[in-house]
Amino acid sequence: MAEQIRDIGVGGLELTKEDKEMVNKVLDSNRLSYGPYVKQFESEFAKMHDSKFGIMTNSGTSSLHISVAALKERHGWEDGDEIIVPAVTFIATSNVVLHNNMKPVFVDVEPNTFNMDPKLIEERITSRTRAIMPVHLLGLPADMDPIMKIAKKHKLKVIEDSAETMFARYKGKSVGSFGDIGCFSTYIAHYIVTGVGGLNTTSDPDLAVMLRSLMNHGRDSIYISIDDDNRQSKEKMKEIISKRFSFVSLGHSFRVTEMEGALGLSQLKRKDEIIRRRKEIAARYLKGLSDLGEHFQFQETPKDRDNVYMLFGMVCKGDEKKELIQFLEDSHIETRDLLPLLNQPIYKRIFGDIEGDYPAAKKINDSGFYIGCHQYITDKEVDYVIAKFHEFFKR
Ligand SMILES: Cc1ncc(COP(=O)(O)O)c(C=O)c1O
Repeated sequence: MAEQIRDIGVGGLELTKEDKEMVNKVLDSNRLSYGPYVKQFESEFAKMHDSKFGIMTNSGTSSLHISVAALKERHGWEDGDEIIVPAVTFIATSNVVLHNNMKPVFVDVEPNTFNMDPKLIEERITSRTRAIMPVHLLGLPADMDPIMKIAKKHKLKVIEDSAETMFARYKGKSVGSFGDIGCFSTYIAHYIVTGVGGLNTTSDPDLAVMLRSLMNHGRDSIYISIDDDNRQSKEKMKEIISKRFSFVSLGHSFRVTEMEGALGLSQLKRKDEIIRRRKEIAARYLKGLSDLGEHFQFQETPKDRDNVYMLFGMVCKGDEKKELIQFLEDSHIETRDLLPLLNQPIYKRIFGDIEGDYPAAKKINDSGFYIGCHQYITDKEVDYVIAKFHEFFKR
């Protein structure tokens, strides 16, 4: 009888005994609201990403949303002002621009890295452009030097959408530390998985305060946590009491509980192993599939940066994608389209038929897909995937 193969998914999760103990500690403490676990997770995460402050929210999308909102408020951006985003990304990147009543302006991507092409940014800048939002796609940092240079030249803010990339460096510097604010996700299938969750990183103390307030209903920063009135002077207490119910901006309810903080903190301890294994799996895929190079453009990793491989992405050079992914799915190998954006029904309704203006994105939309590259996939399963690719092209 043929050996039963388990489904090889794009994500996986195996919580350890320590993870569960940490969550139980939270439950034993009878405190679920913003407290020591989330605070420590935020602080360690920020440090690992070369940033002074970390702010945990309930999703990567929430983190992106309040980043745009904070900068819009601080700099007096107006409705209809523009933010530059890549033409290939998860839809949340550009959705948050729309939700903030601003306009996403798309820039095509590099056909080899699948990240925003810095050479195409300047032609999209207008008098209403306010920010650039590069995305570090699938685990690969975008080309930040030219992006930062353009931002500086045109006085634009930079929000890094790093929801797909953690613990990766570009020219020695961490993702999430280049722009004004970095945004991460700890949703299912990411590197650190807390169920729901997102993080902002920034080294700007005023922005950190604004972000924290915006995710807490726009509350005055004097009273965000129930710890904020612990052991304060009488004078300070007077002020706190008068402002406990003071709201200074139009905020949101984007909070997490201490349980997400505890899960994050516990998993941070094994982040080196998580990244090492993802890189190892990707290297094994690349080696095993190297003789099929004529059929695929794999995501290329320039020498000046890490690729931490949240996912293993590729674009078919020919027109075999449909047949190939059906064959892989029939073989218990899960696939997903490679983040097609401009051809989504909702975007076609909003922006019209603009996909043809972005040839690299169109090729990726038509012919790109990804497979899993997570630490729970075994070498045997990687070899099975490689064998299945070969079997397809031999038929
Ligand atoms: C590029 C990108 N941005 C934003 C998000 C949104 O993150 P979340 O699902 O935590 O809201 C994702 C989700 O994976 C993503 O891939």
